[in-house]
Amino acid sequence: MLKAKGENLLLTVNNIIISYNDSGTGEIPIIFIHGFPFDKSSWQPQFEFLNKYNRVITYDIRGFGRSTCGTKEISIANFADDLIDFMEQLELNTAIVCGLSMGGYILLNAVNRFPDKFAAIILSDTQCIADSNETIEKRQQSISSISSGGIKEFTESFLKNVFIEDTLNKNLKIVDKTRSIILATAVDSLTSTLNAIANREETCSSLKKITIPTLIICGKEDKITPPLQAKLLKDSITNSTLCIIENAAHLSNLEKSEAYNTELAKFISNLQL
Ligand code: MLT
Repeated sequence: MLKAKGENLLLTVNNIIISYNDSGTGEIPIIFIHGFPFDKSSWQPQFEFLNKYNRVITYDIRGFGRSTCGTKEISIANFADDLIDFMEQLELNTAIVCGLSMGGYILLNAVNRFPDKFAAIILSDTQCIADSNETIEKRQQSISSISSGGIKEFTESFLKNVFIEDTLNKNLKIVDKTRSIILATAVDSLTSTLNAIANREETCSSLKKITIPTLIICGKEDKITPPLQAKLLKDSITNSTLCIIENAAHLSNLEKSEAYNTELAKFISNLQL
């Protein structure tokens, strides 16, 4: 049955309710997976730009935005299973999928296990390595601090890490919007997803198997998943292009949305699908 188009639509996926936006037309849609701890509205500049020419779908992963959390233990593999079931519910045999940061971890997990579901991928501000012991320790400290003292302190230090200084000082609209997305997230979702990220497996060893067109985008000032990691992805994925966005950090799609959208549009229009 033909599914409705619009915003904040609801679909039952893997026994949870997924909230999604679906707009525009085109045979092969572009699906966007947000990072941690954001929601589908973090893709608004891309959604509004691309839906003039393509079918674009953004969705809230389980436990974030308007999607429910369910009772299943959260893991990157479960998020990837949700993506595949979401595509099946929408009757999509294939899609171009873009994942930012944790969205990229989810995407790489899914591509590894279900390669036939993807026509092309965009890996944005992400990496294939697993967490180091030091990073796992930091995540555990964040879990303790969120569980005991709430999310305000975590949110403020997280914001400082994802934007460049200029954005933090001058582009308060983006910073405030991102802050409100994080503060609206349930404590349980934050802590269980931090745990899922810390427990994720590396995907570097399977990158050689990826042969579909791949765009790798990274903010030049990204401190969380730095350009060095983007370069590692580029060197390991045969059919890939690397694009570094100037004057942008981890949320390059928000900080420099015009440059980001231009790269996306160029990549998509050059695809011969
Ligand atoms: C994200 O933006 O999804 C997270 O910062 C990823 C991470 O912390 O590894």
